[in-house]
Amino acid sequence: MNQSKCRVCRGPAVIDLPRHNANFCAEHLQQLCRRQVEKAIHDHDMLSPDDRILVAVSGGKDSLAVWDLLAELGYRADGLYIGLGIGTYSDTSGQYAQAFADERELELITIDLRETYGYDIPTASKATGRVPCSACGLSKRHLFDRAALDGGYDVVVTGHNLDDEAAVLFGNTLRWDIDYLARQLPVLPAAEGFPKKVKPLVRLTERETAAWCIVRGIDYLLDECPMAHGNRHLAYKEALNAVEARSPGSKAAFYHGFIERMAPLLADRVDAGVELHRCESCGSPTTGDVCAFCRVVATASTHDPVPVEVVLNKAARKAYLAQMQEIS
Ligand code: AMP
Ligand code: FES
Ligand code: ZN
Ligand code: ZN
Repeated sequence: MNQSKCRVCRGPAVIDLPRHNANFCAEHLQQLCRRQVEKAIHDHDMLSPDDRILVAVSGGKDSLAVWDLLAELGYRADGLYIGLGIGTYSDTSGQYAQAFADERELELITIDLRETYGYDIPTASKATGRVPCSACGLSKRHLFDRAALDGGYDVVVTGHNLDDEAAVLFGNTLRWDIDYLARQLPVLPAAEGFPKKVKPLVRLTERETAAWCIVRGIDYLLDECPMAHGNRHLAYKEALNAVEARSPGSKAAFYHGFIERMAPLLADRVDAGVELHRCESCGSPTTGDVCAFCRVVATASTHDPVPVEVVLNKAARKAYLAQMQEIS
């Protein structure tokens, strides 16, 4: 069998990237990833060299890769891990985040939802009747903002990659949800009560961030969140992957075409007509009297703890229990 060769140096390749119509060795794969991240940062004015950066890290490949890439590119970046209390998934993800930080002597701030706010995501889901991912997303967004503002950080970085963003875009487009589309940008500027938020991995696919972790020797949690099993977001990813397999480069064209040509047309819809004031309880910006996060805390922290299996649908529970058996 022919050993495929790196496009740049003609040495043995470790990965083929059909969307670039090329193969790459470990060194030139890293060069490609670095360049794509630098280009995203530059094109969208994401970061300045002096920024104090807070990277939201989940222990998965994307957020560890982006933290590693930013450190490599010379940025000052601390990590923030939120313990969501999603059974062993959360315990393990926290260990990966901490091990990464320890090995590289990076600062990791940890917030445990149950310890600090008296609830976890399965309990919040049951107590409030929200789907788990909604209770989770709302809690994470609030805590990212709060930690960044309290800690004096200039910007919050998340590990959303091209696959994530294209899947969300696909979902928003299927529903023609114009307000979500208008806000689906790789940079959200700082506003009263909100830090700046950026996604430096929007030019890398999840296969590329996984490859980055492998060639850099980064251990990351492979498992998906058990609550995400079978959700719509994964269905959109699968649909886009089917298109990508037939027509490499489609995913990037879909997303970047939107950002370059469509998003500017929606600019006046961003935050149009929303009047915000301070939450009576925590001071965060909100449209009501008390913010959604404080309402979740009030309801969920007085509810008996609910184990993760209870809030999973049938298929997700089956997958979760199988995973547990593998671990034990
Ligand atoms: P997800 O919403 O799980 O797709 O995660 C999107 C991004 O949110 C990740 O790339 C991380 O930057 C961040 N994130 C997810 N989970 C956590 C967590 N438990 N703690 C801190 N950041 C997280
Ligand atoms: Fe938030 Fe799974 S990580 S619901
Ligand atoms: Zn090479
Ligand atoms: Zn509040």
